[in-house]
Amino acid sequence: MSNESAFELSPANRQAGISALVDLPADQWTERWDRIITPPGVKERLLNAMLFCLGPGRKMSDVGLPVHGLILLSGPPGTGKTTLAHGLADRAARELRQRGIASGVRFVLIDPHALPSELLGQSQRGIARLFERAIPDVAHDGAPVVVLIDEVEGLAVSRRWTSTDTNPADVHRSTEAVLTGLDHVARAHPNVVFVATTNFPEAVDEAVLSRVDILEVLGPPSADAIVEILRDSLSELPNTTMDLAGDRLQSLADRLAERSIDARQVRKLVFRAMVSGGTDLALGSRALNMDDLERAISAS
Ligand SMILES: Nc1ncnc2c1ncn2[C@@H]1O[C@H](COP(=O)(O)OP(=O)(O)OP(=O)(O)O)[C@@H](O)[C@H]1O
Ligand SMILES: [Mg+2]
Repeated sequence: MSNESAFELSPANRQAGISALVDLPADQWTERWDRIITPPGVKERLLNAMLFCLGPGRKMSDVGLPVHGLILLSGPPGTGKTTLAHGLADRAARELRQRGIASGVRFVLIDPHALPSELLGQSQRGIARLFERAIPDVAHDGAPVVVLIDEVEGLAVSRRWTSTDTNPADVHRSTEAVLTGLDHVARAHPNVVFVATTNFPEAVDEAVLSRVDILEVLGPPSADAIVEILRDSLSELPNTTMDLAGDRLQSLADRLAERSIDARQVRKLVFRAMVSGGTDLALGSRALNMDDLERAISAS
């Protein structure tokens, strides 16, 4: 198994809006799957969708069973969309390797902000270059490729939304370029799967949403999930003496669940507890206890 190995990113790729190329599986990426807690069934569906798209699904008729290879993760900030998208690609790479279907997955990160601005049709041309040249370049040998478009509303903003904008024409053209691009890649490079994320689904163009093969909505964690996340974060600390199976942790989680706190904030509470209980605690010469955690939760 390889460690994370980034491909050499050529200036042309960077200019085309690709901000990272990573060869998966990679050791450091397993936790991006294992440590993201989702409701039952979510991960299984996502993994199967990706495997279907990278495997048998793409040999089928695109009229009979139209599969675009487009997975959308939607949800508020801090619910694990970006991390899970990485983890999903890594998990799929492991599965494909283990089953002898492929040696891994090439992971491509798109940075919408790196694309040219919406000036004078620049962004439309930039998007066309990304989908018609840069992504096909990465996918040319037929090996599985996963492309992450984080915060897709930045790239394919709803045309309905922008209709009252000062300069809607260019935004429309950019969104149309994304649609054309998605269709082109789906047709010409069935070895490519897109994973898009958004915390603003209303702003994503309807025709893009219509091309989505599977949508998973992630929300704030349940009380049980909060317990699991707190335990996981606490396991990072060297010498906690806390009773991680006790009722107190459960009742803290119940309180947090009532507030609809996001998972990122749940983990940050452990950090806050660590830095609010004195220097000894911060420097590790005193162990964190349940009172520290309770105080941090009450103060937040
Ligand atoms: N469902 C979850 N289970 C466990 N930890 C989580 C979960 N969601 C988020 N986290 C924690 O929060 C961190 C940030 O999550 P991530 O950036 O993936 O969220 P996001 O949904 O992409 O947020 P944003 O919309 O702000 O980009 C993760 O690395 C992890 O530590
Ligand atoms: Mg994110």
